[in-house]
Amino acid sequence: MSQDPKRYTITAALPYTNGPVHIGHLAGVYVPADIYARFQRLQGKDVAFVCGSDEHGVPITIKAKKEGITPQQVVDKYHAIIKKSFEDFGITFDNYSRTSAKVHHDTASDFFKKLYNDGKFIEEVTEQLYDAEANQFLADRFIVGTCPKCGFEESYGDQCENCGTSHNATDLINPKSAISGNTPELKETKHWFLPLDQYESWLKEWIVKGHKKDWKTNVYGQCKSWIDDGLRPRAVTRDLDWGIPVPIDGAEGKVLYVWFDAPIGYISATKEWAEREGKDWEPYWKNEDTKLLHFIGKDNIVFHCIIFPSMLKADGSYILPNNVPANEFLNLEGNKISTSKNWAVWLHEYLDDFPNQQDVLRYALTANAPETKDNDFTWADFQARNNNELVAIFGNFINRVVVLTHKYYDGVVPEASEFSEIDTQTLNELQAYPAVISSSIERYRFREAQAELMNVARLGNKYLADEEPWKTIKTDEARTKTVMYVALQIASALAVLSEPFLPFTSEKLKKALQITKGSLEWNDVSTKKELLASGHTIAKGELLFSKIEDEQIQKQLDKLEQSKQDNAMANKKAEPQKDTIQFDDFTKLDMRVGTIIEAEKMPKAKKLLVLKVDTGIDVRTIVSGIAESFTAEEIIGKQVTVLVNLAPRALRGVESEGMILMTEAPDGKLVFVNPDTDGVTNGATIN
Ligand code: 2FM
Ligand code: ZN
Repeated sequence: MSQDPKRYTITAALPYTNGPVHIGHLAGVYVPADIYARFQRLQGKDVAFVCGSDEHGVPITIKAKKEGITPQQVVDKYHAIIKKSFEDFGITFDNYSRTSAKVHHDTASDFFKKLYNDGKFIEEVTEQLYDAEANQFLADRFIVGTCPKCGFEESYGDQCENCGTSHNATDLINPKSAISGNTPELKETKHWFLPLDQYESWLKEWIVKGHKKDWKTNVYGQCKSWIDDGLRPRAVTRDLDWGIPVPIDGAEGKVLYVWFDAPIGYISATKEWAEREGKDWEPYWKNEDTKLLHFIGKDNIVFHCIIFPSMLKADGSYILPNNVPANEFLNLEGNKISTSKNWAVWLHEYLDDFPNQQDVLRYALTANAPETKDNDFTWADFQARNNNELVAIFGNFINRVVVLTHKYYDGVVPEASEFSEIDTQTLNELQAYPAVISSSIERYRFREAQAELMNVARLGNKYLADEEPWKTIKTDEARTKTVMYVALQIASALAVLSEPFLPFTSEKLKKALQITKGSLEWNDVSTKKELLASGHTIAKGELLFSKIEDEQIQKQLDKLEQSKQDNAMANKKAEPQKDTIQFDDFTKLDMRVGTIIEAEKMPKAKKLLVLKVDTGIDVRTIVSGIAESFTAEEIIGKQVTVLVNLAPRALRGVESEGMILMTEAPDGKLVFVNPDTDGVTNGATIN
């Protein structure tokens, strides 16, 4: 795009509506997209920032089955939660739609019909994987097998999450049904295929030979490798009962492939928004002077750079994305974020623990955004970013400016007298920041952009520390006024420049400085002589940031530890059953309720405790290998289950007359098999 775009269509990946959203989603897609959209709006640009819930696809039907509810109930539940999380975190979509909306069903159906009528599909009966027990064709996430490209053993039917390759389900090695675990059979069925091979040379021209080298290296590299590997026709329909029905005769019981309908969701969301606003949606998708951008995570690259553009090209009336700034993944405390393992920081839960601290998370996630490689979110880093940067630099500067202005001048911006060299230099430096930050944002380098924003606060802090108005107030009134005037200009610049990154803070700061809406623009920071005029009165304002204490961080780490333990428990595979015994064999076991009345460590034995147990029959000695799980003191008085007729045997020279029944917790700690024996007396038999 040679000249300035006239309008921006900014899309953010439609999240699957089978669970809430977590920090990985926010860091990878929604915060960068929001920074970009807010920034362009601040430049006075015409922006349509759209998103919505991706409500079709197999993950939703799997979730519904698991929870015993309908797919519609699943999407209704999570659509509401996700939508609220985005609003709570200040993600300023112009429209957050959903793919179950009528406008989307109509738009996707029309899109398919046009391609069908124009002869853009291949109609073919092929053999597809089928689960005879479940009486169902297996597509996408209903099938798991080994990826033919990287050997990952848990690849899905349509995509490998390990290497990102998108393939056909029949390409999988050793496929298994995710419904029954059975090896599927092959069964004939008719589908419609988009012949990607026919778009290969065009894609090569557009991406490889075209201008796409300004795409991020990870995005360009993936596209090039797929194109170099050769593209094959991809089915855009499925034998499923959840999705948009294929809108042609002879396709009963078939729906559109979710990855065919979902990106069209961007178009439907734009239509819905335009309708509401009384605008025309078409220029946002069809005019060459529109900049179309897709913000996504790296697992979505193939769909947004190869398949969707081919669909748009097949239609012929649409523009193509100018850029697809995909991010890598964010890990959490060293492990991959996982919904099923509950290894995540859920946005709605974060706000329960850190109310009104959305900007802290936005800041920490951007500072550590996985822009060029996978990155790790740690709670220690989150705390340090807040305490050492937001509180100590940004908050501290603003607090000093506001407090001193009230203390010295009752909140009125003082008159500046002559500027010293350092004043002029500081103000010149300040004026350069909008361009510096803009340049980073325009190149999708949001970490860099935010770091520059923080440098504005650093500039302010250094200025105050060097000029020491708290000292000059005693000796030089005029100088103090000038210094405070300059500091207030820096504070105002921060109020404006922080908006894309820290919108809640920017709002609070504008309120504190009494900057009214529309009175100070982004570019004013470089062009206006005075951002806050002498004589203007500021308010007291509230503290922008507060320290996060170690206990708050520990609470989050404990939560994750709990998830780890729950998972270990859930994943612990039961040992295979032993050989069958007869009832008579069982009746030979004499198990009783007993109480441990004495316990002491066996000298020189790490694992052994010597116990005296009241079995109701007698008091006997039992040597038990539980010393690594219990201290002697803590088990005295415990009621336990004892096998009393086990042949005695000597352990380290002490005769042991029985065995206490134990099992192992997921963390490896032994625990007593202790049926609810409340009120049961020693000697009671267990059978
Ligand atoms: O990966 C995902 O979560 C998909 N639901 C993204 C869809 S993006 C778009 F094409 F709709
Ligand atoms: Zn793979």
